[in-house]
This record gives sequence, C-alpha cells and structure tokens, in this order.
Amino acid sequence: MSHVVAVAGGSGGLGRALVDALKKSTYKSIILARQVNPSLENAIGVPVLQADYSDQDSLVQLLESHKIDTVISCISNYDNSQSTEINLIEAAERASVTHRYIPSIWSGQGKESPFAASRLALLDALNQTRLEWTAIFPGIFLDFYTLSVPSYTKKSALALDIEGNAAAIPGDGTYPVYFTHTADLATYTTALLGLDHWGKKYFVYADKMTWNEIIAVAEAAKGVKFNVAYDSVEMLKRGEITELPGHKAVYEQFFGSEEAKSLFQKVMAGVAVYMAEGQMVYEGPLLNEIFPSITPLTVREALVGNGIV
Ligand SMILES: NC(=O)c1ccc[n+]([C@@H]2O[C@H](COP(=O)([O-])OP(=O)(O)OC[C@H]3O[C@@H](n4cnc5c(N)ncnc54)[C@H](OP(=O)(O)O)[C@@H]3O)[C@@H](O)[C@H]2O)c1
Repeated sequence: MSHVVAVAGGSGGLGRALVDALKKSTYKSIILARQVNPSLENAIGVPVLQADYSDQDSLVQLLESHKIDTVISCISNYDNSQSTEINLIEAAERASVTHRYIPSIWSGQGKESPFAASRLALLDALNQTRLEWTAIFPGIFLDFYTLSVPSYTKKSALALDIEGNAAAIPGDGTYPVYFTHTADLATYTTALLGLDHWGKKYFVYADKMTWNEIIAVAEAAKGVKFNVAYDSVEMLKRGEITELPGHKAVYEQFFGSEEAKSLFQKVMAGVAVYMAEGQMVYEGPLLNEIFPSITPLTVREALVGNGIV
C-alpha cells in the first residue's frame, strides 16, 4: 500500500492546515485543485495536480498514476452541490490503488443543518463503495474567534463577533458548543491515518463552553460590554438572524450582493437552529481520547491570543 495522501481542495482553509500537518508526517501529500497553481506549489513544496471533477475517467487516471492510497476531501460545499465530490468518490472506488476516503463533512451531523442534504449524499455514495471511509465531526472551527493564531480559514462571525464586540446567540446560549482549531483538526486527522481500521465516524473537540460563558470571558478580559442579542428559535426558523458587524465582510467574500446576504443569513440561521435545539451532540468515539498526547488549543487560549486575558 502506498503512503500517498491527496487533499482535494487542499488550497483552501482546512486543506492548507491538513497539508501542513501531512508535511510533518511520513505521508507524501498531494493537492488536488481545479487549476494548476505553480505559485502555491512553489510556496509550500507540495505538488498541486489539476483535477477535472466533471470527468470521472480522468480522475481515475490521476489517482492511479500518482498511486494515491487515501483521499481527504476539503472541497468547499457551501453551494450544496455534492456532484463534484460524488464524482471523486466514484473515481476513488474505481481506482485500484485507492483504499481510503475522508469526505468533506468536517461539521455537525444535524439533520436540519443547511448542509445536511449534501453530506448525506456523500455518505450514501461512500456506502456504495468498497472504500474504507470515515467522517470527522470537529465542532465549530475555533479559527473564527482568534486573530493572532495563524490560520488559513476565512473568518466568519458565527454567533460571536470578537472584533465587533457583539454576539447574536442562538436560543438562550446555555447549551455546550464544541470547538476545534483547524491546525489541531489536521493533526488529529493525520494521526487517524495511522490506525489500521476506521469506524464510520469520529468526533473531536478541543474545548466545549456555552456561548454565555465565552461572552463573559471576552467581556471581562476586554473590559467592554458586548452588544448581545438572543435570537429565538422561531426567528431562526424563519431564516432570520441578528446581523453582526463582522457579517458584512462575509457578504463581500460572496461579492456583496443582496442575494449573498440573504443566502448567508439563511445558512447561518440554519446552523443556529441546529445549535439552539441541542443537536450539536458529541457522543464519540472521540479523537481526543484516542490520541491523548495531542494538546489542542482551548477557547481561552484562543482568546488570549487575541490580546484578551
Ligand atoms: N465546522 C466548521 O466550523 C466549519 C467551518 C468552515 C468550513 N467547514 C467545512 O470544512 C470543509 C472545508 O471548508 P473550507 O472553508 O476549508 O473550504 P474553502 O477554503 O472555502 O474551499 C476549499 C477548496 O475547495 C475548492 N472548491 C471550491 N469550490 C469548489 C467546487 N465547486 N468544486 C470543486 N472544488 C471547489 C477550492 O480549491 P481549488 O480552487 O484549488 O480547486 C477551495 O480552495 C467543508 O466541508 C466545510 O463545510 C466547517
């Protein structure tokens, strides 16, 4: 069995963190991208191979010719268009050299989540294969709430806007929320590659806190009262959330249109309902327990990194 790991979408936020972790391991990593990218290839010293996700035969050839044993997908799925990744899964099934697959889930397993349909489609596709696969559930990326801790992930003021001293808390904010920084998620995922057998899913979290606890830490440390709104489940179910100052930057990432704003708010409201209704449950198996020697960044440490104590 070869030790070649392809990271599909490896040029993005989580993907870059994974490539960093793989570079420190014994695995050989390769990035799959829609376009060749010589500057990225030179900057990080990892091959960036062009993948035409619409052409399954060419994907099979790519996997075979580079002896790719494991595919880890970090393909962005914000548009809920899973066909891209399903083609990659089917190509991995056809490629005789490819044995393992981790789909681009990396999030909650709530059935009400706006991404649920696309995630279930990926799992259904994997279930039709002989591949050994697993889905990883890391909670919310802690990267959203840090400034000075390095990250490739685009910031998104999900519930809490650290820079804007504001928060829009789903429900009453008294339930636990789970967090992992992408650098730690990448370290756990790389460690998982070393296990001989995989279960169908793993959970991982660096830390858990309620939104109210996190706001209290941030307020006390910054000496600033946050502008906190509590969005009721009824409001969230209408696809509405309280707008935070940091949301405007996200609209800009999606070209700043009114359509982008409305889509973003609906997606965020869907995630918020999932949290407020207590669907964010992390029962295990937990990668934290399987790999206790990994010490991940905690929420408090992430806030300290912001200059908050
Ligand atoms: N739990 C959380 O809090 C949380 C937060 C953010 C993201 N996530 C999840 O983490 C995963 C990765 O997210 P991310 O933010 O790292 O992604 P990202 O940076 O937005 O995108 C990753 C890569 O996907 C590729 N890509 C984009 N659109 C594509 C398309 N239509 N077809 C094929 N490739 C496409 C791009 O690579 P090329 O242009 O090089 O092809 C891009 O660099 C996703 O599953 C996402 O839902 C979870």
